[in-house]
Amino acid sequence: MKVYNSILEAFGNTPLIKLNNINRGLKPAVYAKLESANPGGSVKDRIGISMIEDAEKTGKIKPGGTLIEATSGNTGIGLALAATVKGYNTVFVVTDKVSVEKVNYLKALGAEVIVCPNSVKHDSPDYYINVAKRIAEETPNSLFMYQYSNPANPRIHYQTTGPEIWEQTKGKVTHFIAGIGTGGTISGVGKFLKEKNPDVKIIGADPFGSIFRVYHEQRKLTEGIPYLVEGIGQDCIPENVDFTYIDSIVNVSDIDSFDAARRLTREEGIFCGGSTGTIVHTALKLAENLTEKDVIVFIVCDTGERYLSKFHSEEWLREKRLLKESPPVLRELVYKKRQTVRRPIVSVHAKDTVKQAVAVFNKDGLSQLPVMDFGETVGSLREAKVMASLLENPALLESHIEDIMEPSFPCVDEKTDLHAVKKHLTESPAILVTEYGRIIEIITRYDILEFSDDLI
Ligand SMILES: Cc1ncc(COP(=O)(O)O)c(C=O)c1O
Repeated sequence: MKVYNSILEAFGNTPLIKLNNINRGLKPAVYAKLESANPGGSVKDRIGISMIEDAEKTGKIKPGGTLIEATSGNTGIGLALAATVKGYNTVFVVTDKVSVEKVNYLKALGAEVIVCPNSVKHDSPDYYINVAKRIAEETPNSLFMYQYSNPANPRIHYQTTGPEIWEQTKGKVTHFIAGIGTGGTISGVGKFLKEKNPDVKIIGADPFGSIFRVYHEQRKLTEGIPYLVEGIGQDCIPENVDFTYIDSIVNVSDIDSFDAARRLTREEGIFCGGSTGTIVHTALKLAENLTEKDVIVFIVCDTGERYLSKFHSEEWLREKRLLKESPPVLRELVYKKRQTVRRPIVSVHAKDTVKQAVAVFNKDGLSQLPVMDFGETVGSLREAKVMASLLENPALLESHIEDIMEPSFPCVDEKTDLHAVKKHLTESPAILVTEYGRIIEIITRYDILEFSDDLI
């Protein structure tokens, strides 16, 4: 087992993983190049170190200097890791589209992070690349790394990622698929593989809204339209995209990208980001028309952890109307209620007096109450019914609740389809939500009106 002198030596030599489930019924072998296994969790670790070492060799950066970059996060993480070991400061300019996990990761590595609006055009002074350029001009002993045209970006993929894929497939790779952000991965790997075998097809996976596909096919510059996948696609053409090595570019929607990323995670155990989803979707579509002789390799760009607050969350997907699978379930309504109502279930005990129950109704402004005993439901009270009984017979105030209570509200499992929950609530004013048999929440008719808006 090798021992490394620093984290920098652990970059690259990532595993190639054969898919077994998500591609069932398809003829070609499909392999994932696990760039998420790099120390910083993305394909960008390779260029972080290569751009810094190139700047050192060419004397562009001096000890203690400041590295500045415009990034969708991953290049920043790769640069920050290497900068930490080598003793440089870092300033990263990101857009507000970048996940909070990536921003926090950069800050954890000691970087300064500046967030710009994603909605501005590339000629605006607030465009994130223009902001990074300006900061570099104003900061002494600094260097703008500029991954979009820095030759050390595609070069490291030509020197390492391409040869690794060639060796790992023993030269049998027939199709290579990557996303295109700066173009570094696809251009560097594409150049290497084409030099080894000009018949290898190089395919770019591009979000709908990005301008790469139309430019590749017609050499026409179109207007970009916003999309949600991070790190790939552009509204201008970076110098590092070398179209001579790209055979075709395929557009994929956000919904298909996120669905494919979630499937790769659940069916293959490869926890990945959204750009990997764009690529996997492209790979599986391509595989439908290929044979047993074909070998597809695609890039797993980064890990899923940095998107836990986004498409790896069902709530987020539902909010954006991007959830493909399963109908909404009761658990999601519980989560929504808890964001607003932050208190445990209000209940009464069977041996409490009716007077105590009335006090609870008044204090909490509730219309019904479960009667509970050691976490189990034993009955229920409705305010209107209790008040009507008290008008008839005020002496009931001193009685025990168990003398006047009604049957329990129904217990409904948290995984129940929300449409079925609605039906329960036409028959009962409230239900008790259970998780593996334990009561965790009460949902009333009011709650379903208040919190189920984006759910059903
Ligand atoms: C998540 C993610 N996927 C893919 C890419 C694309 O790689 P490249 O810039 O080499 O084209 C990037 C680049 O920023 C990225 O952040």
